[in-house]
Amino acid sequence: KTALPASLAGKYKGSFAYNTIKDRLPLILTKVIDTLHRHKNEFFEEHGEKGMEAEKKAIASLSKLRNELQTDKPLIPLTDNLPDTAFWNKYLEYHQNTSDEPPSWFQSPWLYTECYMYRRIHEALARNPPISDFDVFKEEKAHNFFESQQAIITLCTYLQETLKSTEKHDELLKKDFLKLLQVSLWGNKCDLSISAGADSSQKSDPLQSVEELKSFILVDHMEDVWSLLKDRKNPDSQTTRLDIVLDNAGFELVSDLVLADFLLSSKLVTEIHFHGKNMPWYVSDTTLRDFNWTIRQMQSANHKSMSKCGVSWESYVKKGAWVYHSHLFWTLPHEYSSMAQVSPDLYAELQKSNLIIFKGDLNYRKLLGDRKWNFTVPFHQALNHFHPAPLCSLRTLKCDIQVGLKPGQGEQFTKTEPEWMIIGKYGIIQFDAAS
Ligand code: F6P
Ligand code: MG
Repeated sequence: KTALPASLAGKYKGSFAYNTIKDRLPLILTKVIDTLHRHKNEFFEEHGEKGMEAEKKAIASLSKLRNELQTDKPLIPLTDNLPDTAFWNKYLEYHQNTSDEPPSWFQSPWLYTECYMYRRIHEALARNPPISDFDVFKEEKAHNFFESQQAIITLCTYLQETLKSTEKHDELLKKDFLKLLQVSLWGNKCDLSISAGADSSQKSDPLQSVEELKSFILVDHMEDVWSLLKDRKNPDSQTTRLDIVLDNAGFELVSDLVLADFLLSSKLVTEIHFHGKNMPWYVSDTTLRDFNWTIRQMQSANHKSMSKCGVSWESYVKKGAWVYHSHLFWTLPHEYSSMAQVSPDLYAELQKSNLIIFKGDLNYRKLLGDRKWNFTVPFHQALNHFHPAPLCSLRTLKCDIQVGLKPGQGEQFTKTEPEWMIIGKYGIIQFDAAS
């Protein structure tokens, strides 16, 4: 058995991890603090003095957190009492026992410390009822949705048009499928963590962009995904289960739901399971509240095809064709290769799937254990025994890992465009058959 590559970490000066921890994370914390400040009056109106008191305490914890981060202090155990608290503290203990120095913000694996920051934000609120439920990122998420309005209308109109002709031959189905799959891929440009919360809504026409962006897809396994779905459809009437591990709310979520609607309506799949986060995460990640909020917004929108989508989506949820899951594993710092061990119930759930789509950059990092793999290592190998079912990653590149490239390809990019991995300009549709 060969050793796994080293984890990305803030200790590598000048790396993207280092810059994230040094600049972007403190900025995100500062914005969270500002957001709480801005809601002071609202907390007072809703909860009186107790609300004000809670806000003050939460802000104090967050300032302390920012200071710990900026001075590279050791990570400390969580002090709340939530269903995942013990997992986190056990993980910390494990790292304390296996490294020479105590785990700290810059020294420890980046994946660990960055997740830990979001979990500590959650702790700061959780410990302070009556505002424990407040989502510090909800405004940015809603803003992204509203700012993408035109793109959403375009996309929904396209969907409604395609669904009108239900009896389609495979070629036409395929064309629509590939298009909507790519819209969902590029929807991942809209995340709010890389921009530290600044507007990153979808402004251009998402369907037209598909053509323009084609050459930026570095790994393109669309054909494999299509043949998997088509092969299952042909002997009719069997069930096909698709799982989508969601990423960001806002335009990206809408693009995922449009894809899901298309797949269900055209009977390429028969049930869809969505997996979201159970606390605010990486600024824009989807929670159950975001999921429901989005469907409600669509329903009540002032545009026919948007509201039509909203109405269908609610009915899919009601009749159980769409199922939303939130499992605490998705907001743990663990890489996915340890899922079978850490959360065997979730692993078993995913094994029921015929195809799992993992959206976004963070999911890719977790699939690959956030390690410094060589560019040419096969995806299957980098998954490191995580093969619950056939899976596909749809991700725009926003951190410095990538596998499955052709020899020399990565090096060539680095030469001509040094920032190619972190600017979200390139994308991958990377498939693993699991066997
Ligand atoms: O900040 C770290 C990071 O994982 C980046 O690599 C990425 O830009 C962002 O957070 C999350 O991106 P996504 O929403 O695509 O998972
Ligand atoms: Mg995200």
